[in-house]
Amino acid sequence: VTQYLADWRPYPFRIARTRLEFDLAPRATRVRSRIEFQRIGPGDLALDGAGLKTLSLAIDDQPLDLGLLPAEGGQLVIPAADLPERFTFAAEVEIDPEANTALEGLYLSGGMFCTQCEAEGFRHITWYPDRPDVMAPFEVAIRSDQPVLLSNGNPVAAGPGEAVWHDPWPKPAYLFALVAGDLRAISDRFTTLSGRSVALNVWVRPGDEPRAGYALESLVRAMRWDEQAYGREYDLDVFNIVAVDDFNMGAMENKGLNIFNSKLVLATAETATDGDYERIEGVIGHEYFHNWTGNRITCRDWFQLSLKEGLTVFRDQQFTGAMRSAAVKRIQDVQTLRARQFREDAGPLAHPPRPDSYQEINNFYTATVYEKGAEVIGMLKRLVGDDLYRKTLDLYFDRHDGQACTIEDWIKVFEDTSGRDLTQFKRWYTDAGTPRLTMAEDWRDGTLTLTFRQETAPTPGQPEKPPRVIPIALGLIGPNGDEVLPTTVLEMTEAEQSFRFQGLGARPVVSLLRGFSAPVTVAREIGVDQQALLLAHDTDACARWQAGHDLALDALVGRARGTEAGAEFGRAIAGVLDDAETDPAFAALCLSLPGEEEIATTLAAQGEIPDPDAIHAGREALARDIAAAHEPALARLCDAMADPGPYRPDAEGSGRRSLRLACLALLNRLDAGARAEALFDAAGNMTERQGALECLIAAGRDTRALADFAQRFGENRLVMDKWFMVQPLRAAPDRAVARARDLAARPDFDWKNPNRFRALIGGLAANHAAFHAADGSGYDFVAEWLMRLDPVNPQTTARMTTAFETMPRYDAGRRAHARAALQRIAALQGLSRNTREMVTRILAGL
Ligand code: ARG
Ligand code: ZN
Repeated sequence: VTQYLADWRPYPFRIARTRLEFDLAPRATRVRSRIEFQRIGPGDLALDGAGLKTLSLAIDDQPLDLGLLPAEGGQLVIPAADLPERFTFAAEVEIDPEANTALEGLYLSGGMFCTQCEAEGFRHITWYPDRPDVMAPFEVAIRSDQPVLLSNGNPVAAGPGEAVWHDPWPKPAYLFALVAGDLRAISDRFTTLSGRSVALNVWVRPGDEPRAGYALESLVRAMRWDEQAYGREYDLDVFNIVAVDDFNMGAMENKGLNIFNSKLVLATAETATDGDYERIEGVIGHEYFHNWTGNRITCRDWFQLSLKEGLTVFRDQQFTGAMRSAAVKRIQDVQTLRARQFREDAGPLAHPPRPDSYQEINNFYTATVYEKGAEVIGMLKRLVGDDLYRKTLDLYFDRHDGQACTIEDWIKVFEDTSGRDLTQFKRWYTDAGTPRLTMAEDWRDGTLTLTFRQETAPTPGQPEKPPRVIPIALGLIGPNGDEVLPTTVLEMTEAEQSFRFQGLGARPVVSLLRGFSAPVTVAREIGVDQQALLLAHDTDACARWQAGHDLALDALVGRARGTEAGAEFGRAIAGVLDDAETDPAFAALCLSLPGEEEIATTLAAQGEIPDPDAIHAGREALARDIAAAHEPALARLCDAMADPGPYRPDAEGSGRRSLRLACLALLNRLDAGARAEALFDAAGNMTERQGALECLIAAGRDTRALADFAQRFGENRLVMDKWFMVQPLRAAPDRAVARARDLAARPDFDWKNPNRFRALIGGLAANHAAFHAADGSGYDFVAEWLMRLDPVNPQTTARMTTAFETMPRYDAGRRAHARAALQRIAALQGLSRNTREMVTRILAGL
């Protein structure tokens, strides 16, 4: 059944108090609930439940006939006529956490009880209005022989075998959490701006304590930053974080009890890469920031998901920018947006940040809702300016604290503080698709006229695309490299619009879309000399990186077409190498060649059918030529960037390592893995060890290193996930599928664990030329495993079907193979609603 935004109706009851009692047992957990309802509008009492064994139901302690229960997984409806103004609904149900492999609701992970309730998991725990606009204070009693018993809010009582928690802040059911297990905490205290002392705990399995320190430090930094940047303070006596091994997504912001995928908590220099550390800090921040943007102010319905996710991603991006390098963070975010969101926007799964219909809400935790949602907020901030942005957010927190809100509420605070009419701007929330911005230049008599056109291709269900408000930040760079116009923001509102810059001495080069001021693709006429000028002199890091990136892409596209393109890029690289030590992280970004997927996207945008084998071969050839042309400089840098130690996962240390590995990856094409082998053996941290291992796999010189790695880390699940991932990802395309099959046959391929499944199957899907093997073997392999996982874990299966979302751009032969594979999935008996929705949407575009 399709859900529509237009069908939302207010819930006719308010909840004064929710009381839950859990008697935990792996196969038969008893849940007793008492919910105090008060009528606030007309209508029946509708409660959600799924997979519950209902033992009793009562209104004001009068038993209800169990004949009222819906036949199968639906709503329990108690007619309005049978209900007084105020009443207590009580239920006793039994659930089976051990059988819960979908990891939604209450389940077991490594012997420990834990929950995941967003979006609609609470209905797997007991009967409840499982919708985000019904908020209540919760009191939770847990009885269990597990030593540590946690829930939301503050602890009120704990005795042997029992704990009681009280969360005074009204919250929707999706923020409920419970954890029970043999856990150890590493702890700290935090004093808020107004002097509240908060106990901080990161809970892990015994023995993992030494690996949780970075997460705890990150939490303290996040709490401090949110006070300074947004004036937001924490509001309970304790803040708990728990790491679990089996988790469908990254982490969850349950009030006062965040639950994390253990890969986003546990880290040591020996087991985690710089990227892992950065993600830990970012996600710890993200979940913490939800306490205000998500929890204190939540969503009216799930169509508004971007209200909390877009804003919270925007906040975590600012946080990481402040803790590390803002410029590098922005470039990384642009890369992710393009790789994931532009990809989504260009295919059959395109949807706006606020969709108006869905079948399964879990399929809408997407790059569009999250990352594009964050970009839209960045545009608002740019349009109103930093000071007004802060004032607007103050108003938002003030006006809507304790409420379940909509995108309209969010836009209204900006209208009220700025006096702007944001009607047209709102299209960013309601219209799917990435606008294509073209710029034409006219130069005469010291005047530069820029004419912009915007165009958005139709997306599923949205044939018409009216023009949007596009903030275009630009600067002008004179022919000698001086900036003749600092960053200026043009506000484009029409389909076509010109802007004039007068009184210029000589024709400047436009530094366009500074800071990536809008999520659009850009088409402009620009010569290689101008690109080189921007790469050398632009004052905006994003635009400077973009110039180099465009040069690289042009070369790679040329190579994929079978030409010898790349001379200009090669010359530009010389400049980057000369300058590399002043900003190693930036140089590393410039030296990392765009991936095969992006080359395919670029070719498709130019109206061509991408050939994955030609793209792969062309990219390898260009990398080899670049390496050969710059070998001495690359080798010198590779050594110069050696870690002086001790290992620090900060911007500076990780910048140096990323440059070292970028040089190594190029040199690897010349020395067949010799340098990589030396680095692998000498590696003092996982960043270097994994980087070197990836090179060895690409060079086909990996047997010893892989055995050594497995020997060292065989007992560490998270590290072995890397081992399972890098092999299908980095193996030569003609060998990767066979290799993935071998790995899948191993006894330690614990495919029911989402991290392990994503490592191997996702690793292969991310190896562009292997996944798109012309004989369809990549598609078949992935489809086979999706069919196997679907009955066990629909959420993770549905998510991974996105491997197929780019299929419309490939040739008829590949499309036929992929279509057949998807049709096999579609024909599966009992296919989940999650996967069915995804496969149907993808097939509709094929
Ligand atoms: N709200 C969580 C976050 O962004 C994501 C949890 C979504 N989980 C799910 N099963 N849909 O941090
Ligand atoms: Zn989130």
